[in-house]
Amino acid sequence: MQTELSFTPLAGIATELLAVLAIDIQTEKGPEAKPRPTLLSSDAAILAAAASVLSTGEYKAGANETVLLHAPAGLTAKRLLIVGLGKLAKATVHSVRDAAGTAVRFAKPRGIREVTLALPEDFAKGSAGALARAAVEGAFVGDFDADTYRSDRKDQSIQKFTLAVLGEADRGVIEEAFAEGTIIGESQNFARTLVNEPGNKLTPTILGQRAAQMAQEVGLAWEVHSTEKLHELKMGAFWSVSQGSPEPPALIVLRYEPEGVTDGPVLGLVGKGITFDTGGISIKPADNMEKMKYDMAGGAAMLGAMRAIALLKPKVRVIAVVCAAENMPSGTAQKPGDVQTAMSGKTIEIINTDAEGRLVLADGLTYVRQLGATHLIDVATLTGAISVALGKVNAGAFSNDDAAYQKFESALTISGEKFWRLPLDDGYAELIKSDISDIKNTGGRGGGASIAAEFLHVFAEDTPWIHLDIAGTAWVEEKRPYIGKGPSGIAVRSILEWVRSY
Ligand code: BES
Ligand code: MN
Ligand code: ZN
Repeated sequence: MQTELSFTPLAGIATELLAVLAIDIQTEKGPEAKPRPTLLSSDAAILAAAASVLSTGEYKAGANETVLLHAPAGLTAKRLLIVGLGKLAKATVHSVRDAAGTAVRFAKPRGIREVTLALPEDFAKGSAGALARAAVEGAFVGDFDADTYRSDRKDQSIQKFTLAVLGEADRGVIEEAFAEGTIIGESQNFARTLVNEPGNKLTPTILGQRAAQMAQEVGLAWEVHSTEKLHELKMGAFWSVSQGSPEPPALIVLRYEPEGVTDGPVLGLVGKGITFDTGGISIKPADNMEKMKYDMAGGAAMLGAMRAIALLKPKVRVIAVVCAAENMPSGTAQKPGDVQTAMSGKTIEIINTDAEGRLVLADGLTYVRQLGATHLIDVATLTGAISVALGKVNAGAFSNDDAAYQKFESALTISGEKFWRLPLDDGYAELIKSDISDIKNTGGRGGGASIAAEFLHVFAEDTPWIHLDIAGTAWVEEKRPYIGKGPSGIAVRSILEWVRSY
């Protein structure tokens, strides 16, 4: 998708589809309080073109509610689409991101390949820069579709997205924010493209190649290692997951080293890259097992974030480690009861071979600390329990350090992604004590997401650390007006903003 800014008056823009945003300014409640849909535009031609449909009361400017006008009088645009932001009290800059996605997804199935969105005016909830950035991010989010292997696939992607800005005020700020949003949107879709690949098309080796190719393109230092290096580093936990598959593991390391930055924090990013999770010998039921191709969504999120970091160039050093493996049952697979020695030296009793994500992350965390990371963040589709707790609405977050977590919370206000902090607690740590070794890899039914987090805590130790569990949110099960069914790309934007906050 090409992106472009336009500073010419809306009425004169020749476009297939001009989208403008509307908001419901009714603040009263009760049966008498009718919606008052109001355009977020001061352009006289647009206001005139939309006046009649807004006066009928049939369009309420609900969140992502749309109405389309063909050949709007007084406009050069072929179509005028009004997209709602919902009620004034609730709408935010994040509603604008969604609305931009809605406009794009409205256009796609109608064969419209080019969309212009008018940057909302008089919308006090966000600065012009924040709104421009959110809009272009939302357009990229909306443009992504998962049906890449359909042989009769009609490519419906949007060729050009234009953001139309009234007046020259803030021009510099808007240009910069728009360029940023483009990089971020592309990086989120880069992650989604990886997550969407089936296990046979994206093995650990291929994930390593894709990471290396991206790193090369954006100028990151990279290394991709495999079996030999795992043995050399004594990554017994990571290897134990990999050993059941003929596909070799990939230890992917990307480094971002900004010029002139030689001190200060080193941020360590660790991603779970299980390219397919059968459960291993503790095999999963057949129903929905195909979904386990997205068990590398955490690793993909880290790669997407690193792509954006390389292009946006924050002044902080970053090392990303993605631990990629296939979790398979076979004659060489690890068995329940096996004891593994992690890179840190801690011994782990394997109770359930399906609790494999924490095993690869354990060694990833140890390794990135050894490489010099002073602050850690990991992201993983780690537990079904996180979906039980938070559903598909929020992803889970855990931290051993309030200062690091506060920075993450601030990052969320920019990214618009929903994470909810859940507890770490010695009480959960108790549950993974083993009779035979230091710890075991599961701790019973209740509190599964916190137990998994406590398992990782053993390897993060006292280094400031954030753990993100995206098992419930990495895949969109039902399409929404602004995002298609498939990989969500969650965590790319939040990790990026967290990094930029240092
Ligand atoms: N990859 C799964 C978690 C998962 C579940 C991701 C659903 C996405 C959707 C993880 O490896 C796993 O199998 N976890 C087990 C842990 C259990 C054995 C302690 C789980 O959650 O059931
Ligand atoms: Mn598993
Ligand atoms: Zn898994």
